[in-house]
Amino acid sequence: MSAAENKKRHAMLAEEIRRHDHAYYVLAEPSISDPDYDRLYRELLDLEEVHPELQTADSPSQRVGGKPVSEFPEHRHAQPMMSLDNTYSFNELAEFLKRVEKRLPEAELDWTIEPKIDGLAVSLRYENGVLAVGATRGDGASGDDITGNLKTIRSLPLRLPAKAPAVLKVRGEVFMSRAGFAKLNEKRKAEGEEPFANPRNAAAGSLKMLDPKMVAERPLGIILYGLGEVDGVNGDVPPTQVEVLDWLEELGLPTAGEIWTGQSHDDLVAAIGELDLARHELDYETDGAVIKLNNLSLREQCGVTSKAPRWAIAYKYAAEQAETVLKAITVQVGRTGALTPVAELEPVLIAGSTVARATLHNEEEIQRKDIRVGDTVVIEKAGEIIPAVVEVVLGKRLKKATAFVLNKECPECKSQAAKDEGDVVWRCPNPDCAAQVRGRLEHFCARGAMDIEGGGEVLVRQLVGSGLALNVGELYKLALAEVAGLERMAEKSAQNFIDGLEASKQRDLWRLIFGLGILHVGAGVAKALCRRYATMDELMDASEEELVAIDDVGEVIAKSVHFWFGDSQNRALIEVLRKAGLNFESSIVISGEALGPLAGKALVLTGTLPNLKRHEAAARIEAAGGKVIGSVSKKTDYVVAGESAGSKLTKAEKLSVPVIDESELLRLCGE
Ligand code: IVH
Repeated sequence: MSAAENKKRHAMLAEEIRRHDHAYYVLAEPSISDPDYDRLYRELLDLEEVHPELQTADSPSQRVGGKPVSEFPEHRHAQPMMSLDNTYSFNELAEFLKRVEKRLPEAELDWTIEPKIDGLAVSLRYENGVLAVGATRGDGASGDDITGNLKTIRSLPLRLPAKAPAVLKVRGEVFMSRAGFAKLNEKRKAEGEEPFANPRNAAAGSLKMLDPKMVAERPLGIILYGLGEVDGVNGDVPPTQVEVLDWLEELGLPTAGEIWTGQSHDDLVAAIGELDLARHELDYETDGAVIKLNNLSLREQCGVTSKAPRWAIAYKYAAEQAETVLKAITVQVGRTGALTPVAELEPVLIAGSTVARATLHNEEEIQRKDIRVGDTVVIEKAGEIIPAVVEVVLGKRLKKATAFVLNKECPECKSQAAKDEGDVVWRCPNPDCAAQVRGRLEHFCARGAMDIEGGGEVLVRQLVGSGLALNVGELYKLALAEVAGLERMAEKSAQNFIDGLEASKQRDLWRLIFGLGILHVGAGVAKALCRRYATMDELMDASEEELVAIDDVGEVIAKSVHFWFGDSQNRALIEVLRKAGLNFESSIVISGEALGPLAGKALVLTGTLPNLKRHEAAARIEAAGGKVIGSVSKKTDYVVAGESAGSKLTKAEKLSVPVIDESELLRLCGE
């Protein structure tokens, strides 16, 4: 292809991908199948690899193209990023309306009511339609330049359609969806990591990461709600908030979609009430309604104070909070040995449920909030979020209250706790600690793992306490009479549990691997392992290098898996499970001879092949069980090179990846 043709093809691919991204991430109406999307994306990457000049800042490939940074560059805001005044009362809202009416006596005032998204404020600048800079609010005058991180947000276009103005500054909120938050926390817990307290913290923590590749794995979204500087616009800048949001939407930028308008205090109260009902169904957390003057030129006349505009106010919904007394701080030990301080509270009703315990996360968090036993504390519970201690009511502090110091001793087995450098979590190092043993058994029996009926907290405590089962292997040696003999255990429940154990022997291998509780191996990683290996034995004997070569398995995970299977006690456990008759075969494996001569192989296509078109070559490889990937790495098995192959060929040579031609490929495919 000529340079002009390449450029045209690249532009077409980029446009297609943008269109599908918008359909998927903004409209939630997928317009292409995953494999077809992957093919487009791969072709784009390949084209850019050979013709790096095509790799422009707005190319879809640049979503994760940012390099890790050691710190974020400072970004000075051209206009200060202001905050909002807020109120919790309808009376204050009425006063606000009166103040604005007084400033604009002549005008008829139209108001908009929109969700106040509970995330992080960001400001974006598009230049000639291309996302050029994105920054956090910081102190309002300057924030962090987090362009690379923001580019990873799939619902955010890197490029706007041709009708976009030459310079467009927009402001919005980055958030983590509720579903994404729940999933992320599940994963973190399964991998022995501290869960985030709420979606906002999770979003904030994600945006702070210095490597865009890691940010890309976090389920972040963005909603835009306002304009900054606009220059070189084709026609007029929309004169009202309602039209601004329509315009942003037309430009492909995600907006909240929920907006009310009204003139009177009554209208506003009604809209705020409607939003309160609707907000629980939204994908993102809202902590209030933002009331804004609809007409932008009237806003100008109204002006701003030093911190906030005079033409807007946030009405905050009463958080689901309550005050209660912190009776004690206990420490729980999880299956990974993590010592988690827990607030034992005077029971209190919040949002319809009684809360008697709340997580305190870790020692650092308690010290930061200076939480002391005996304090009156504010507890918050919202949606799916774990109840948390928000703050101490200092006015009610008792004189004798002393600062909390975590006892660096495991409360269960009294071992000296240890902490890794840079970590905030103290851990019990004793693998035989009863709390860890219970945690491992509970995890093994849990629904997401081996799904063993009856194997909950209560029974596990009894089994471990009585010494009947101290590891998962011993579960399978239990006799009905032993279980039935436990205190308060009905014959029927004992039978159910024994039946549950029997049924669990047929579970898919990935559930077993996940259930074993190997550090860093969540359900997703367990599945990835079982897609690669057909049996437990193959997995057990896999080398670290082989493990690292699996998609979704990084060095840390590979090390952890290899280490676990290298331990003689763990090996012995596996043998016990084998004897007990557990299924050791994966039903989700996708490698293996049966699936073709290239099964499990990753190939890169580069240059122009003499006979086959790219997609034809790709189809042949896939039919032979192989996978076509976009770029050359140590994990690549072959590079198929044709005419005018570029940097991929060089890279293959550098990494000693075998390079083959078309006829060799056909031979490998068995043709
Ligand atoms: S308008 C000039 N609209 O709430 C001020 N802000 O508590 C423009 N926020 O800093 C702000 N949703 O980060 C506006 N629909 C919305 C919002 C919103 C969330 C945030 C924003 C602001 C903070 C104030």
